[in-house]
Amino acid sequence: MPVNILAIESSCDETSAAVLTDGRIRSNFIANQTVHEQYGGVVPELASRAHQENIVPVVDMALKKAGVERSALSAIAFTQSPGLIGSLLVGNCFAKAMALALNIPLIAVHHMQAHVLANFIEDPKPLFPFLCLTVSGGHTQIVLCESPLSMKVIGETLDDAAGEAFDKSAKLLGLPYPGGPLIDKYAQEGNPARFKFPEPQIPGLNFSFSGLKTAILYFLQEHRQQDPAFVQQHLADICASVQERIVSILMRKLEKAARETGIRQVAIAGGVSANSGLRKALQQYGEKNGWQCYIPKFEYCTDNAAMIAITAWYKYQAGEFAGLDAVPSARAVF
Ligand code: KG4
Ligand code: ZN
Repeated sequence: MPVNILAIESSCDETSAAVLTDGRIRSNFIANQTVHEQYGGVVPELASRAHQENIVPVVDMALKKAGVERSALSAIAFTQSPGLIGSLLVGNCFAKAMALALNIPLIAVHHMQAHVLANFIEDPKPLFPFLCLTVSGGHTQIVLCESPLSMKVIGETLDDAAGEAFDKSAKLLGLPYPGGPLIDKYAQEGNPARFKFPEPQIPGLNFSFSGLKTAILYFLQEHRQQDPAFVQQHLADICASVQERIVSILMRKLEKAARETGIRQVAIAGGVSANSGLRKALQQYGEKNGWQCYIPKFEYCTDNAAMIAITAWYKYQAGEFAGLDAVPSARAVF
């Protein structure tokens, strides 16, 4: 009998469902919530309501595309933490109800562990042990992975996440939310060496991005005073320079982690791993240091249920199931 797992991701502002059969992703549907754009960031209350609206059609589409009947499901997985509590509750309650109705096991998945395991959806897959730089809107971590379900965070941000650094910089430039992909887009036409933003001196493997945000704020205030059209005229160069600095902060720490651990299998994951500058930098650092590098396919970098499904597959094989009393949590380490 094939093992069919339905996975649900609802930690932030994307409602996603995926179906996996024996370790292979058969479908992965994502409903993006556009309602937040006008507010310049995710509004938790609106996110929960949109998940409620989207979850049934998204699950139906994922099952239909995979050609899997509800009655053929072996387990149902959901994102348990971290995330917005109201958003997590929608996926959690839906998964529990379905597990109860179908009398199949429930699997609780950690969202950040799933971002790392997105590297295992398709070949080539990293060999253990490997390092993963996980960069999203809420987290920035260097993770040492010993096996699919054994991971240790060896470095993390002390303040803003890398995705936040992109989004907040974009906001200062007057770009809509989420600004990360727009900075990436404009940066492609710009000169990354045109403006120099400071690199923080943080000991160890931790990161800090709040100083960069302040530096950009002062830089823009000063130039706008002299020329109100400064941002408009130099948008591409500013974006390229901001991106260059965020990427160099990330890559130098990753290089330090690889040097200190002696590990040469290096992966990236999370929404910011969709960034073209970071993807290019990983290849360059990889060539320089003799790393074997891994990046998930573009659609598996930002939030998606396929990564929840692949994590659930490892948990299924290990017999790690959750009880029907499983509750979500906004914050939780793995
Ligand atoms: O992993 P993700 O989809 O959601 C969280 O778990 O947070 O990451 C979202 C973050 C946002 O901050 C978004 O601006 C950023 O990933 N992002 C990018 C790019 N695509 C998404 N940042 C820079 N360049 C991109 N191409
Ligand atoms: Zn995420």
